Amino acid sequence: MRDIPTIFVANSAHTLYLTLFYCWSSAEIVDFSVEQTSLSDFSPAAHAEVRALKVIPLSLEKGDLALRTSVWVGKREFSDRIRQPEHPSKGVLLKSSCLPFSIGGHNRQVPPTPTRWHHRPNRLMLKRQNKLILNRDQQDAMRRAGRVNAQLLDYLRPHIKAGITTGQIDDLVHQWTHDHGHIPATLGYQGYPKCCCTSVNEVICHGIPDSYVLKEGDIVNVDITTIVDGWHGDQSETFLIGEVSEERRSVTQCAFDCLYLALDALTPGCTVSKVGETIVPEAHRRGFSVVREYVGHGLGKKFHLDPSIPHFPTRQSRIDRLEPGMCFTVEPMINAGTRYTQSDKNDGWTVRTRDGASSAQFEHSILMTENGPEILTLTEHGPRPGHCF
Ligand code: MF3
Ligand code: CO
Ligand code: CO
Repeated sequence: MRDIPTIFVANSAHTLYLTLFYCWSSAEIVDFSVEQTSLSDFSPAAHAEVRALKVIPLSLEKGDLALRTSVWVGKREFSDRIRQPEHPSKGVLLKSSCLPFSIGGHNRQVPPTPTRWHHRPNRLMLKRQNKLILNRDQQDAMRRAGRVNAQLLDYLRPHIKAGITTGQIDDLVHQWTHDHGHIPATLGYQGYPKCCCTSVNEVICHGIPDSYVLKEGDIVNVDITTIVDGWHGDQSETFLIGEVSEERRSVTQCAFDCLYLALDALTPGCTVSKVGETIVPEAHRRGFSVVREYVGHGLGKKFHLDPSIPHFPTRQSRIDRLEPGMCFTVEPMINAGTRYTQSDKNDGWTVRTRDGASSAQFEHSILMTENGPEILTLTEHGPRPGHCF
């Protein structure tokens, strides 16, 4: 998953003002959320849902990262409208092409890229620069990476049951990947410490494998990414551990169905928003919510590339197109309760539902072809479209 950009790295203690300077009209601000890590003093307003907010002061200290995830005004999203800091000399704005994804690893220093606000290329320009159309050989390399990743998931499948620890699942990923001569992409990625993510029950994503023993009734998302000859395969599945509650079963079913519904809707050259336009109504119809802070992404020689693939429609996703030759992920995270997220203040990675209700996710790596989307990470033994959990 990729965080929606706009990051401010403070290089001294001061206050950063997030100002919705364009919303002073009658437009109602329906939703505003700010996520940040390693802030010792965090303004309570920042985590609240607020209406008609104009200015939010955030107290920053040296090395702190501030990340604004999304601002919604009525039905429109403004995801990159953060005001220029009062004192640009006190910090550095990172442009989206060099942003650190997943703002974890809270002690990590992000190398500042001094870009002058006024000379910053706008987001559309960046998108165009970074759009990656793969040639035939590169497409085949992505097919190989996807296949290897899927084989790894099939290898793990029988082991993912009550009694195993998430750390042992990670050990299996490590060993298998090493034995096959590949590299686990998450290990050391932005300081992430493990070879996969294991997200149990209310954990939405980026759960760190540890000594937790899976037990009957749990649901666990296992997300693996393998680098094969320099190219990435990225996918995840949510596994039911024995008999689970009806809520956990149905939220898992919903995430699974949403992934395939979205894939069905994609056509060569369609807008990225097709993904969100398919997923949101389906999830809502079933009484569930769609996570917004973490999104799918372009994929290739790098783990996270443009375009962002949000699972809800955005202004940008109505512009971006999925053209033949592009590789990307679709990875809806569906929550049984509120869509709001809370990342762990201690490990800087684990993302949970704010209300503690369960969350499920499925992910595939996709190549758009002239004939429509091709799933690169199809497993042999995993659930097929139409599967009933
Ligand atoms: N595999 C996740 C994705 O689908 C990303 C995990 S990044 C990590 O994009 F650092 F948290 F592992
Ligand atoms: Co992904
Ligand atoms: Co993934």
